[in-house]
Amino acid sequence: MDRLKIKGGKQLNGQIYISGAKNAALPLICASLLTDEVVTLTNMPLLSDIISMNALLEQLGTKIESRDEIIDGNACKNYTYLTKEFSSLVAPYDYVRKMRASYYALGPLLARKGYIELSLPGGCAIGARPMDIHLSALEQMGANIEIKNGYVIASVDKRLKGTHLVFNIASVGATCNVMMAAVLADGITIIENAAREPEIGDLAAMLNDMGAKISGIGTSVLRIEGVEKLHGTIHKVIPDRIEAGSYAVAAAITRGKIELINAQAETLQTPIKILRQAGVKIEEKPQSIVVDARGCKLVGQDLMTDYYPGFPTDLQAQFLTLMLTAEGASMITETIFENRFMHVPELLRMGANINVHGHASAIVRSVDKLYGAPVMATDLRASFALVLAGLIAEGETIVNRIYHLDRGYEKLEQKLRSVGADIERINNKEEE
Ligand code: UD1
Repeated sequence: MDRLKIKGGKQLNGQIYISGAKNAALPLICASLLTDEVVTLTNMPLLSDIISMNALLEQLGTKIESRDEIIDGNACKNYTYLTKEFSSLVAPYDYVRKMRASYYALGPLLARKGYIELSLPGGCAIGARPMDIHLSALEQMGANIEIKNGYVIASVDKRLKGTHLVFNIASVGATCNVMMAAVLADGITIIENAAREPEIGDLAAMLNDMGAKISGIGTSVLRIEGVEKLHGTIHKVIPDRIEAGSYAVAAAITRGKIELINAQAETLQTPIKILRQAGVKIEEKPQSIVVDARGCKLVGQDLMTDYYPGFPTDLQAQFLTLMLTAEGASMITETIFENRFMHVPELLRMGANINVHGHASAIVRSVDKLYGAPVMATDLRASFALVLAGLIAEGETIVNRIYHLDRGYEKLEQKLRSVGADIERINNKEEE
């Protein structure tokens, strides 16, 4: 297993290109299952989660072609997906186990083929993460849902039926899945309390380009008028707001200056507000965000995660780490997932001063120094938080289990090295 070796203490300065958004790309790939024509996705990040999702689609019968391309100065991937016929209607355990987002096959397969067997994803490091909202909505649309041997077996006679749904939680996954099911349903589906994350807007925009009739995009009430058939399209994936927010913290924590090329400031308004209140200078440009913390004394901030446009849970671990370098105390409250402070014990080993209260909140107090240590993380964003800590720690930090990072941060060490970080990937074989 590869590891990252970081020598802390370098101020980061320069430009970083923000890649296409993983959380937009994953449902977009599955949306290609809704048509028997070619769907081309551009600005795709090269991440292990994308490779896993592609493998699942190939298993279902999709023909995929990929090529390298450069968009807005950034090297990325372009994939074409063609699913003329399905060779299987099963999303097996081995795929879902690797990546929860495999459940995005559910809505499209049920809509186009009227049948799917999907291994149920279990809980994960950050929480229980059930699928009850997805399943109950599809049932209300006429699907028969059975749980057997760890699988959801979902089927429908003829077409799903449009209906009026009210979600009890504004779930990102359920909104995407049900939207993909509803575009080919008979009649009109209304989703009340739909999630409003920009990645959902990106999916809705592509579905509309394919012939779907979705309105209310960006609001919490989506109206989807079912159509008989969708056609192919070419779609450019939106920039990754979580990657951009993560590198914004890298600039702030090292008191450097980084321009985040292609980042969309309008998708990061709450994190930007917190950074500004803490004392970081932020310039919002049409095609980039400039984060300048040179010479700044930061002041601790309280923050609470929330559904979009609130503070994203996927940036909580990174901001918590930043607050270790801000004067005073900061209270960080997690409201989306029940177990999302797994990075804290590792940060404590590096000299952090953090008190976690129950599962929901943590008080972070500033420390003069962090000390390098071997650390390991349990999830993607927590891993980035440990990288951030390593960037300012005295001495050497080894981040283990970086397969988490490879799931969601494209060319992480190259990007950080390009702005001056002392970071390298150690391949176990090289060491032997
Ligand atoms: C997506 C993102 C993830 C992000 C999260 C919240 C992807 C691939 N992942 O995850 O990075 O952290 O949104 O912004 O886009 N819930 C239920 N029942 C359900 C569905 C969800 O109780 O049927 C709960 C979850 O356990 C969680 C909360 O609702 O506590 C929000 O989950 P949800 O918005 O669905 O997150 P994901 O789509 O899994």
